[in-house]
Amino acid sequence: MQVGFIKFYFFVLKMKVEIRKPKLSDAKALQKLISDKDVIKQISGYSYPCPLSRMKKDVNDGIKGRKTKKSYSFTIIFDNEIAGSVMLEEPNEDKGCYDLGFFIGKIFWNKGIATEAIKQIIEFGFKKLKLYRIQADNDSDNPASSRAMEKAGLKLEGVRKKYRKKGNKYVDLMLWGITK
Ligand SMILES: CC(C)(COP(=O)(O)OP(=O)(O)OC[C@H]1O[C@@H](n2cnc3c(N)ncnc32)[C@H](O)[C@@H]1OP(=O)(O)O)[C@@H](O)C(=O)NCCC(=O)NCCS
Repeated sequence: MQVGFIKFYFFVLKMKVEIRKPKLSDAKALQKLISDKDVIKQISGYSYPCPLSRMKKDVNDGIKGRKTKKSYSFTIIFDNEIAGSVMLEEPNEDKGCYDLGFFIGKIFWNKGIATEAIKQIIEFGFKKLKLYRIQADNDSDNPASSRAMEKAGLKLEGVRKKYRKKGNKYVDLMLWGITK
């Protein structure tokens, strides 16, 4: 019984998800994780495969973005490995509301990592940045993203029907938000 408890305790410790400020040296691992057709197809503004130069620029922009309050990027660490990225970006005029973005490398999917990273960035947004709102959107063909946001506390606020065409299928745009 006690051995079982100790094993469980160490399992939980090992499964720790943390978000930390990005470093330029994260770019290679992040570029590898995003360069997967199933990951990249859900992220607007990227084409497959993502060149390393593009990821280096994104990481650099993420580092600089903090100073101008344009964005707050974090690298997601799971079990001491880089698992993805989560960010607050595109602030509104008074910088009280930001858009949430995130991705997790496929090898790390369905372990609750996105849910935990989103919870942590929401806490950062409300406690450190004193935001009053965080919002996000995703395509209706991305149920994992919807579910992770729902588990992290965002509410579905609306659906824009037939928002865009993906291949020969139309997808809706799901609108999510959380307020302080
Ligand atoms: C969306 C994404 C970040 C989720 O990351 P993740 O770490 O696997 O997420 P979590 O493990 O925290 O939660 C995923 C949830 O979705 C569920 N899920 C996964 N695939 C699903 C599917 N096809 N249909 C329904 N639910 C699904 C999982 O079961 C889990 O829910 P549960 O805990 O209730 O079982 C990851 O899939 C990803 O990076 N996708 C590509 C990029 C992307 O979509 N970014 C967001 C753009 S808005």
